[in-house]
Amino acid sequence: MPVNYDDLKNSVNALTHGENDLVSLMATVACEVHHSDSRFNWTGFYRVVAPELLKIGPYQGGHGCLVIPFSRGVCGAAARTGEIQIIQDVEAFAGHIACSTTTRSELVLPVHNSAGQLLGVFDIDSDLPDAFSEKDAKHLSAILAEVFQNVAGPALQS
Ligand code: SME
Repeated sequence: MPVNYDDLKNSVNALTHGENDLVSLMATVACEVHHSDSRFNWTGFYRVVAPELLKIGPYQGGHGCLVIPFSRGVCGAAARTGEIQIIQDVEAFAGHIACSTTTRSELVLPVHNSAGQLLGVFDIDSDLPDAFSEKDAKHLSAILAEVFQNVAGPALQS
């Protein structure tokens, strides 16, 4: 069944209301989104931990790689540009980082707080080709903006 974004938004908001801890929020969003739709085979976050550097955060699915510089992969592109990445075919994306050989398409959204600071990226991978649409991007970015609005910006390692 495709996700019902109204239901997803309501459950995420109910679970996260009043919480401002980054990892608690990431864990809850990853869990709720992952189980909302059978297209989603890997669902999780990479956190900004140092200038131009992402490290793995809470996720659901098989293991993900631990470290992604902003210069690499779809996640790096989302962090670097601040733009949502909808990748219909991961094999056609130069520099895609293959954490799972079964992944065929991918959606990565930058995650900001209300001050506009980049907290990390939210990555959903699918084993289906061309699994993600603008509609997914629109609804998920609205959920992320609401959930992470009051989270403090990253304390960057030097
Ligand atoms: N495919 C991503 C890397 C993260 S994983 O797939 C979990 C990328 O190219 O950025």
